[in-house]
Amino acid sequence: MVLNVGILVSGRGSNMQAIIEANREGRLGVDKIVVLSDNPDAPALDKANALGVEAIYIPVKSNGAKLTPEEEDMFVKELKDRDVGLVCLAGFMRIISHGILREYEGRIINIHPSLLPSFRGLNVHERVLEYGCRYTGCTVHFVTADVDAGPIILQACVPVRQDDTPETLAERVLREEHRIYPMSVRLFSEGRLSIEGRRVIIEGWEDYE
Ligand code: GAR
Repeated sequence: MVLNVGILVSGRGSNMQAIIEANREGRLGVDKIVVLSDNPDAPALDKANALGVEAIYIPVKSNGAKLTPEEEDMFVKELKDRDVGLVCLAGFMRIISHGILREYEGRIINIHPSLLPSFRGLNVHERVLEYGCRYTGCTVHFVTADVDAGPIILQACVPVRQDDTPETLAERVLREEHRIYPMSVRLFSEGRLSIEGRRVIIEGWEDYE
């Protein structure tokens, strides 16, 4: 199966970079990657270009949490023009609720820096420390209309240290994000993922390496 991937970014783009690099090393089985951003100043756009990947700014006017239906349609057009079969949200700081979700439900995934279903939303590391959690981590999940609540594909666990700050914790969690996000893309491209209710079944997971 030929799979093209669209990565949606708003900022730094380190997860985007991890996916692009893993693919360059031949680990993902993805054909083409395109990067789309709602932010003209996202460092991710330059990073993608430097890695030889097409990167496009979508001129969105609204600055609320949600994109308008017309704005989502602009994303859908670019994705469909490139025959994208999997959309990866990688630090894309908008809520998707219209055309992108309709077009790509079951083929759109996100990374979130907590062990969902705990700590949905923003300022995750601050809240994890406030609660005195002993463990935190990150989650790759399918995107649904319910924000940060779609079926879970992979998670990684990170112990919390008593002297952690939100920054030190974010750094250790990010290292795990860079490991499980490319792995999730690979599982998708290998056709191993199926959604059953709330759960994702991974074919051959017990023997996977
Ligand atoms: C990552 O930590 C990602 O998990 C988080 O934003 C960061 C983006 O970093 N995403 C969310 O909080 C989504 N709700 P990156 O641009 O370097 O990949």
